[in-house]
Amino acid sequence: MTGMKWMRVVPAACGVFAAATAWGGTPGRPTFTKDIAPIFNANCVSCHRPGESAPMSLTSYEEARPWAKSILKNVSERVMPPWHADKGVHEFANDRSLSDEQVATIVKWVEQGAKQGDPKDMPALPEFPNGNWRLGEPDLVVTFDKVDLPAGSPDQFFNLPYQIDMPEDRWLRAVEVLPSNRKVTHHVIVYQTEGNQPPQGWLSAWAAGTAPMEFPENTGRLVKKDAKLIGDMHYHPADSAQSDTTSLAMYFAKDADIQKEVINLWIANQNFKIPAGNPSYKARSSFTFPQDSEILSFLPHMHYRGKSFTYTAKYPDGRSETLMSASNYDFNWQTQYMLKEPIFVPKGTRIDCVAEWDNSANNPRNPDPARTVTNGEQSFDEMMIGFVDYIVKDGLRPVSAEQRVAEARTALLAEHAGEVYDAKAIQEGMVIAGALFLPAQGVGAWHLAIMGNVYQATVNQITWQGDKVTAQVAVAGFGTFGFEATRNTATGELNGRLSLPNGELGLPVEGTLAK
Ligand code: HEC
Repeated sequence: MTGMKWMRVVPAACGVFAAATAWGGTPGRPTFTKDIAPIFNANCVSCHRPGESAPMSLTSYEEARPWAKSILKNVSERVMPPWHADKGVHEFANDRSLSDEQVATIVKWVEQGAKQGDPKDMPALPEFPNGNWRLGEPDLVVTFDKVDLPAGSPDQFFNLPYQIDMPEDRWLRAVEVLPSNRKVTHHVIVYQTEGNQPPQGWLSAWAAGTAPMEFPENTGRLVKKDAKLIGDMHYHPADSAQSDTTSLAMYFAKDADIQKEVINLWIANQNFKIPAGNPSYKARSSFTFPQDSEILSFLPHMHYRGKSFTYTAKYPDGRSETLMSASNYDFNWQTQYMLKEPIFVPKGTRIDCVAEWDNSANNPRNPDPARTVTNGEQSFDEMMIGFVDYIVKDGLRPVSAEQRVAEARTALLAEHAGEVYDAKAIQEGMVIAGALFLPAQGVGAWHLAIMGNVYQATVNQITWQGDKVTAQVAVAGFGTFGFEATRNTATGELNGRLSLPNGELGLPVEGTLAK
């Protein structure tokens, strides 16, 4: 806001010193055709044109002129164009925010009466796909079920399934998500799941104004031949009844061209409890890179109460660096922030994510400030996921979480034979592989493979009574679980459950003594 005051002073000053355009670098008498249309073409019309998400088109002077006042306000308050990454150390290839100079030019143009200028100066509009795929004919198109949206209904969320059936796994070099009705579609995230496994990351995401996702040269995303896709849809219904059919175009790469798999990592926390009315509640999640890697992009994900989100790297040499922060997070804009230059993270680098929520009545987006809010998929629940796309420096892809658990098992077994179990937890049919060191006394350990990550839990307060055992299992990012189990000494089998302190979320655990 202080910036806005300063900008309001500029036009008056320049009115007097019309020739002295040097300070601030803005033109003395900006016109639409010469100065404004180039900015709008580059930063606005991807959304502000017919058929797209924005409420009005800004492709011509006639369309833009009636909105001049609103444009001044939205642009100088930096509501438009929507861009929520703070300016910092790293730059983003898809940064659509305006420079201070561009903002000053727009403000000056409006304050001087929003003049058209010479029509001969009008630049050509960028080319738009017109509903067709922007990267040409796809190799495979997936079409999710049609969704009907009654007039005036509140926001709608759907998880639309789609079963892939291909003769073999395929590498994608590019992928585009395209809702048919972009007026009402708010965002789409397409997840890939496999069998009974938790989601293996996402394939692609769409929000207003996004370009097709093209992976860097010699990298790609692998789609399993029998993957089940989930289209996670968020709609903003309109005053009239509407419908949408969202499709996904896949562009296959030649296997031989792929040297790196682009991994979609979730740095998530599912065990937070945001007190009713709390204006600034924070939760954390972390991930430590097991191999030298390069980060390509970020996408912070929370719901309506999301207030800010930060990714910080703690390097093995002790240095800390903020990689990406959104101090003004807005759920409405699920933007993937694509780095201009990948960030190298040596093995052992820990990424710490901090999510902040505003669950007070002062948050105009808050659906219910009187509610204590926990993790859940509904929009009135909350989520904390720091999505990261990355590639490993050596090899095709990171060693899988299951392989790393197997390695941990071998190491534990070498030292603690007779006290190590292959212990899996089962969540709604999904199997979480684990290696559990459960000693007779002292502190144990549990390595768990969750959504591609390995979580290293400590097992405290181990108490045996005959063949019955209870313990506390602290999983970073998920919280502390109670554990109780019974061991069958004859067979070496372990049967029990993990549950939250309040008794919720009882996950069955099945183990066998490792040999
Ligand atoms: C990524 C898509 C996108 C881009 C890029 C974008 N807008 Fe918007 N704009 C929207 C949407 C959607 C809305 C409707 C409000 C909302 O949903 O937040 C909007 C609303 C507005 C409004 C408020 C209209 C009203 O009702 O008063 C103005 C003014 C505006 N945009 C101007 C701009 C300008 C100028 C630019 C470029 C400098 C721009 N926008 C870039 C999507 C976009």
